[in-house]
Amino acid sequence: MKIAIIGSIHQSGLNILKENNFDILEIVNLEINSLKKELEEVDGIVLRTAELKENVLSKCKNLKIIARHGVGYDNVDIKFLNKNNIALGITGTSNAVSVAEHVMTMFLYLTKKINISDSLVKKGDFIKKNTLPSFFELYNKNILILGFGRIGRELAKRCLSFDTKVYVFDPFIDNEIIKQHNCIPIESKEEGIRVADYISIHMPLNEKTKNFISFDEFKISKNNLILVNTARGGIINEEALFQALKNKSILGAGLDVFENEPPIKNHPLLSLNNILLTPHNAALTLECRTRMAIEACENIVYFLNKNRKLNEKNIVNSNLIKS
Ligand SMILES: NC(=O)c1ccc[n+]([C@@H]2O[C@H](COP(=O)([O-])OP(=O)(O)OC[C@H]3O[C@@H](n4cnc5c(N)ncnc54)[C@H](O)[C@@H]3O)[C@@H](O)[C@H]2O)c1
Repeated sequence: MKIAIIGSIHQSGLNILKENNFDILEIVNLEINSLKKELEEVDGIVLRTAELKENVLSKCKNLKIIARHGVGYDNVDIKFLNKNNIALGITGTSNAVSVAEHVMTMFLYLTKKINISDSLVKKGDFIKKNTLPSFFELYNKNILILGFGRIGRELAKRCLSFDTKVYVFDPFIDNEIIKQHNCIPIESKEEGIRVADYISIHMPLNEKTKNFISFDEFKISKNNLILVNTARGGIINEEALFQALKNKSILGAGLDVFENEPPIKNHPLLSLNNILLTPHNAALTLECRTRMAIEACENIVYFLNKNRKLNEKNIVNSNLIKS
């Protein structure tokens, strides 16, 4: 069987496919006509961030599974997969820790303004430390986590270890589960925003969560708020965020994701110094890339081997979504 790898992945994933006698086709040309031709015969696809929509998928005569290298699947035409009984795998257990650490890094960087201290010392101005702007502590602050899934829970653990109060808004998770994690359930988004010193977003982007934080929310937030989004661009309205940061109605923000990626060169948010930006790489630590490559390829092997042997129609494991 033939597996296409779209976007490069860590060697340890490729080794798993080789050990299981799959032929590997590494694809670098993402041009639509080339994809249509190259994917025609493949049985499985390991997919990083390229978009696979009906125009390409309809040409894949043998396709049985797409294994996402990651957890989001907004780059895949899920309706087409459902209609054509093609499975989708995600690397559900691989990246929560990496993203949670990225959020902690952003929280601490924006709180301590450590870059300003660093450049002061490097300029030879050690003795001018009294000229530095005020910086703060996480200790005793209120953290609001929006979305209490895999990443939200890993973040909660880390925040609690800093002696913070962790509030959670997630209407799909039982309050008892939130309490078992030593967090405080919040019944409405507004209630959470009013008390929060820090907010971190960990929900999917969909019709309900688009512009979840926008002009109205910045009207009720504290002016020392630090807001971080590593989930998906569009959950925070970028124009509203720009105004809030420019007018200093919040203290700072950290974004790993944008409404359009990459953001345009003269995007207004790029001009601000109270925002920290990263290129959608919260889950791209070396450890996490290794785990994701292994998990994505294991999903392919598990599904196709079982499929081949048992001709099963509904295989389910914790990370494999049968579409
Ligand atoms: N920056 C990156 O590199 C990166 C890496 C991994 C995941 N992500 C993104 O992070 C987000 C979270 O990932 P995860 O693995 O924790 O997902 P998950 O599915 O485990 O958790 C998502 C949680 O959001 C909750 N939720 C859904 N709608 C909500 C709403 N309207 N209000 C409040 N909560 C809501 C769900 O109940 C669920 O508990 C996703 O958007 C994912 O695409 C980004």
